[in-house]
Amino acid sequence: MTDLRTYISGRSSGEALQTATVEAILALAGAAARIATVIREPDASVDFAATRGSANADGDIQKALDVICDEIVAAALLAAGVATYLSEEREDPVPMNDDGLVIVACDPLDGSSNIDTNLSIGTIFSLLPAAAGPFQPGRNQLASGFFVYGPQTTLLLTMGQGVHAFQMDSSGIFHLLDWAVSIPAQTSEFAINAANSRFWNAPVAGYVADCVAGADGPRGRDFNMRWLGSLVADSWRIFRRGGVFLYPGDRRTGYNEGRLRLVYEAAPVAFLVEQAGGSATNGAGAVMDIIPEHLHQRVPFLFGSYTEIDEIVRHHSLSEPPIRKE
Ligand code: AHG
Ligand code: MN
Ligand code: MN
Repeated sequence: MTDLRTYISGRSSGEALQTATVEAILALAGAAARIATVIREPDASVDFAATRGSANADGDIQKALDVICDEIVAAALLAAGVATYLSEEREDPVPMNDDGLVIVACDPLDGSSNIDTNLSIGTIFSLLPAAAGPFQPGRNQLASGFFVYGPQTTLLLTMGQGVHAFQMDSSGIFHLLDWAVSIPAQTSEFAINAANSRFWNAPVAGYVADCVAGADGPRGRDFNMRWLGSLVADSWRIFRRGGVFLYPGDRRTGYNEGRLRLVYEAAPVAFLVEQAGGSATNGAGAVMDIIPEHLHQRVPFLFGSYTEIDEIVRHHSLSEPPIRKE
């Protein structure tokens, strides 16, 4: 079996930026192995779901495990020579190494609401060239991926030449899986938090209504729904068997641009999605082309099998622009 280090080192030309990219990915894999162990081993002295009483930079209440993961990732990236660390859990970009060549954006722990429910959670990352500064479009990414801490500890990774999947063994080594990662073009499965349906805009409400109408509606076939509350877990399923994920903007206060963050959630997942033959949009254009204006910027995020995303975009083009709360 091929391990992660051998696999990605073999794909590097040895040029400095590529070497720095490989080092950062290996540092993230080391951090993920530590996080997986922290989650798996019993420890009566910590309550990982305990709130810290403080909100993170985006207004979410931090849980103990959010902070532990952020510290593990930051220490690994500092030691790996990374230039700047962009984290969901930090207010501002964190300068690390003056001579570093890559920026790493990271959601150290995705799916925090599932921490104490024994459902899958994960770590999302995006690597960018340091020379172009902290806020660059997803199109500039050198690599992106996410780890999932679930029944298996896994990694989905792209360095811009397709998507590669790995599974961790009991000693923390990630092994390449025999899986040509490609999001099936056709699907009858959608993921959305239906509890927010009364706040949806017309295009999203119209698309979901058509799916729910199933064989009796315009789609002429039945659909199924899944929503795990962990972007990483919903994404892994979509890479495996197709489907679409929708976290649109809605009319709730503070949710005009949805919930997910562009820099360290949507852009890295969008890079993987495009590399696996799917598409990722905010309803108006590709998520990969959006230039962030600030670290914690949100974005409506709709991605998955491209035939369904085309259908969702068609709904957007039929409608008035998304409803904005004044
Ligand atoms: P995080 O735990 O990093 O704050 O991200 C949670 C995200 C994402 O994982 C998930 O898809 C979404 O929030 C769930 O949102 P709702 O609770 O609104 O359904
Ligand atoms: Mn997240
Ligand atoms: Mn998080």
